[in-house]
Amino acid sequence: MSQTYPVNAEFSEKAYLNESQYFEMYQRSINDNEAFWAEQGKRVDWIKPFTQVKDVSYARDDLHIKWYYDGTLNVAANCIDRHLADKADQTAIIWEGDDPSISKNITYQELYDEVCRFSNVLKKLGVEKGDRVTLYMPMIPEAAYAMLACARIGAVHSVVFGGFSADALAGRITDCESKLVITADYSLRGGKKIPLKQNVDAASEKEGVKDYLESVLVIRNSGDEVDWNSTQDYWYHELAKDVSADCPAEEMNAEDPLFILYTSGSTGQPKGVLHTSGGYLVYASLTHQYVFDYHPGDIYWCTADVGWITGHSYIVYGPLANGATTLMFEGVPNYPDSSRFWQVCDKHKVNTCYTAPTAIRALMREGNELVKSTSRQSLTLLGSVGEPINPEAWQWYYDVVGEQRCPIVDTWWQTETGGILISPLPGATPLKPGSASRPLFGIQPALVDGEGNELEGAVDGNLIMRDSWPGQMRTVYGDHQRFIDTYFSTFEGSYFTGDGARRDEDNYYWITGRVDDVLNISGHRMGTAEIESALVAHHLVAEAAVVGYPHDIKGQGIYTFVTLNAGVESSEALEKELVQWVRKEIGPIATPDIIQFAPGLPKTRSGKIMRRILRKIAENEFSNLGDISTLAEPAVVDDLINNRKSQE
Ligand code: WT7
Repeated sequence: MSQTYPVNAEFSEKAYLNESQYFEMYQRSINDNEAFWAEQGKRVDWIKPFTQVKDVSYARDDLHIKWYYDGTLNVAANCIDRHLADKADQTAIIWEGDDPSISKNITYQELYDEVCRFSNVLKKLGVEKGDRVTLYMPMIPEAAYAMLACARIGAVHSVVFGGFSADALAGRITDCESKLVITADYSLRGGKKIPLKQNVDAASEKEGVKDYLESVLVIRNSGDEVDWNSTQDYWYHELAKDVSADCPAEEMNAEDPLFILYTSGSTGQPKGVLHTSGGYLVYASLTHQYVFDYHPGDIYWCTADVGWITGHSYIVYGPLANGATTLMFEGVPNYPDSSRFWQVCDKHKVNTCYTAPTAIRALMREGNELVKSTSRQSLTLLGSVGEPINPEAWQWYYDVVGEQRCPIVDTWWQTETGGILISPLPGATPLKPGSASRPLFGIQPALVDGEGNELEGAVDGNLIMRDSWPGQMRTVYGDHQRFIDTYFSTFEGSYFTGDGARRDEDNYYWITGRVDDVLNISGHRMGTAEIESALVAHHLVAEAAVVGYPHDIKGQGIYTFVTLNAGVESSEALEKELVQWVRKEIGPIATPDIIQFAPGLPKTRSGKIMRRILRKIAENEFSNLGDISTLAEPAVVDDLINNRKSQE
């Protein structure tokens, strides 16, 4: 049995909730669900208050999810305007540049001015309520301004992570029919420049993009030269020169879309996860307050990129809805050296640091001296997100970074869930390294077997959610049927997370990872199907199968089996070419770690690739291949085993 750390008494004293208060509030949230959420709905300012709390059906033939649906509000006004009365001079955003000598503090008043100006620039470019706007941005304050400006005028933002390729960007622009892309000349990470504007130029040449894309708004960030298309491109600083620093906030229905965020699934192209306004904000605000036990004056830092849901909910919307000071970091953990995170904590007196296991593992590998060269005395709470945190990394984070003083909140959630669903509360939950522990308010997890039968007690199973919560995604943009098929068909009447989990004798949840064909690479989701279709798009490739394997730093690595066209010779050069090809098709985050050329892939007699076997081979577990009696050609497997490639 693993060690349990009792609740930190000192932390608990000052926390919103202790253990019995958590249990009491949780019970109320389940027993009196609508009353609970009606009360929580008051954490945002409504223009027209809601009278209806919830209208949810998980039935396949009538699937809909609505929260606070007759209320109206503006999300940006909730994140900014309502704080001006008492927090105009308080720092809203601390921005720390890639270059450690550059940082700035943006007050709520300044945030108001900047977002209003940005909103007016968007209006100048013809953006209207309901229009989709794609953001392809560095981690600079303008990314937050742009998101909030969209929210202010009722436009729907779709942020595409700057590490995606021009092709991936193009697909995301056309899928949601964006008329505007907001980008920067270059982004800076670890001293290196990434040519964002050049990627946008390449994307706008791709098929279909011009059907929708009218303009590209460019932030001058690095100041380097970029190519310019005078019929399409606009410098932000030029348009912003003569616009007002006031812009009325559009009245939006609670169920009007706030943003789309693309995420990978087990099949097909990435899905546009759609989140709406009222419920999302209530949920982001609630979870940010309780999971991070956020109190006024705290300095809070989430190290994610705004290109991911973590950046949306826990850099921008949750913290700002709560009037918090949120730190935004442009750089990377190991630049100028691997003490950077802790340097940033000292420089800005950070109280809460929320990061990913992959970063923790990478820093752990660099040894304790770099950590110990910093003070970290301001830290009181640590957080983890994105993938299961292995107990060794948890222990190091706890002992070395937090000096056994700081509770760790291991937060489990998904792009689809909008906010955290399962997590310890720092003043309320005894900690078990590697466990996301207990559900948050209103969340009813359950474990089911392959047939959907609910499993009781301490067991392993598929993780589902019985009921809705306000932050839940509402649909797949433009494809409601895909939403139903993906999440509500595997286990009827419940939301299927795609994750497996174990529940222990204390009712703690331990996420065991995806049970579908989705990989988790450094906390980023990648569909095996996407990488496979990128590979087979190469003219020399006949067939490809992609599986994950355990990777020391990334959590999972990408193992690809590639069958070449008849007569094509495999070579190291071709291997390199295919790696580059995938990077170009999807982006650096999809870089295959291993390519194994295979004359054939293991298939059933009906032609289905048996990934289970490939997974075992990638994991080096040949002795335990399971049932191979349905294989069409058993000899294929021997060849794969004999030619297996190892890591490094
Ligand atoms: C998948 C969702 C939620 C923001 C970042 C990722 C895995 C996420 C944890 C955790 C174990 C985790 C799950 C989930 N995951 N957090 N604390 N412990 N697994 O968002 O890209 O939508 O990925 O990440 O497998 O399904 P995402």
